[in-house]
Amino acid sequence: MDVNHSGTDDAVKGMLAKLSTLWKTRAAVNQPQPDYWGLAFDANKNDFSHSLLPFRNHQAWLEAPKDLQSKCMSYAWGIYNLKTIYIECNVVVPACEDIIKTPPQSHNRALLQDVMSQALLDEALHTRMSIMACNYIYDMRQLTPLDFSAFNLVTWREALLANCTAEWERRLTRFGIACASETLITDYLKTMAEDSTIQSVCHEVTRTHAMDEWSHSSVFSFVATDIVNGLTRKERLYLRSIILRTVQMFANNEMGAWARVFDMLGLPNGNEILHDVGDNNEISVYTDSLEALVNRIGLAGNGLESAEQAVEQLRERASA
Ligand SMILES: [Fe+2]
Ligand SMILES: [Fe+2]
Repeated sequence: MDVNHSGTDDAVKGMLAKLSTLWKTRAAVNQPQPDYWGLAFDANKNDFSHSLLPFRNHQAWLEAPKDLQSKCMSYAWGIYNLKTIYIECNVVVPACEDIIKTPPQSHNRALLQDVMSQALLDEALHTRMSIMACNYIYDMRQLTPLDFSAFNLVTWREALLANCTAEWERRLTRFGIACASETLITDYLKTMAEDSTIQSVCHEVTRTHAMDEWSHSSVFSFVATDIVNGLTRKERLYLRSIILRTVQMFANNEMGAWARVFDMLGLPNGNEILHDVGDNNEISVYTDSLEALVNRIGLAGNGLESAEQAVEQLRERASA
């Protein structure tokens, strides 16, 4: 495909070069690793932010015995991190690999590969931090680790890829979900990263991760801008619909994982909670970031409807 946007190319080139240089000093992977495990463990503190529990106001939860509530909060940390690990390994890493192995036609080819290989290293560290922080909590609380792999975000992504009929669709699907994820993960991590009342290790690990993800949001935005420059209108529309639809997987309550936990713990009336709460959570936490992303990377205007209209349609579909 002919790429002829030298003005935008130069602007993107400048930003990618800047981000690549910043990574060498800012990224957690380039800093001495803090001794998270040396932080004081306080058995009376929650291992997770209560405000993020999808069933926090359900009567059966409010009436549950205190020791089971505490165990659920530890498993909430487990589910949250396992979901994070799936985002890293199954969503973000494949998109980094696509660009490293077969970069898009661009004047910024080498820089795209450079920043994506940096992101790949970051995600490997985040995966390591998440798994260690999960196991630390399981050890301290003497809980059986949760094994769960059927996260909705994974099954949804796989179903979308299976339905693609062309390689360009598969590639844009992988990139679109990753690009949206890299913007939304900052919102996903925000509450835990800012909640200093929770277990110190949980707070600190999430805070470090959130700081890296601020940079990734920029990296993926500039990589996306470069890619969008070379797309046809049809491809742009496709990429935009993928990015917008990704929000639902972030907002998903992942009640399948909770069903496993309730079963392990024998939570009284757990089935009632599962039935009443359901999978679909409020998407409004994420829609501002999504709207900004669509505008930033050139997927609104120029013959495409505005980001605001697109997000509004998404909201209507989510509440239908
Ligand atoms: Fe990450
Ligand atoms: Fe990331």
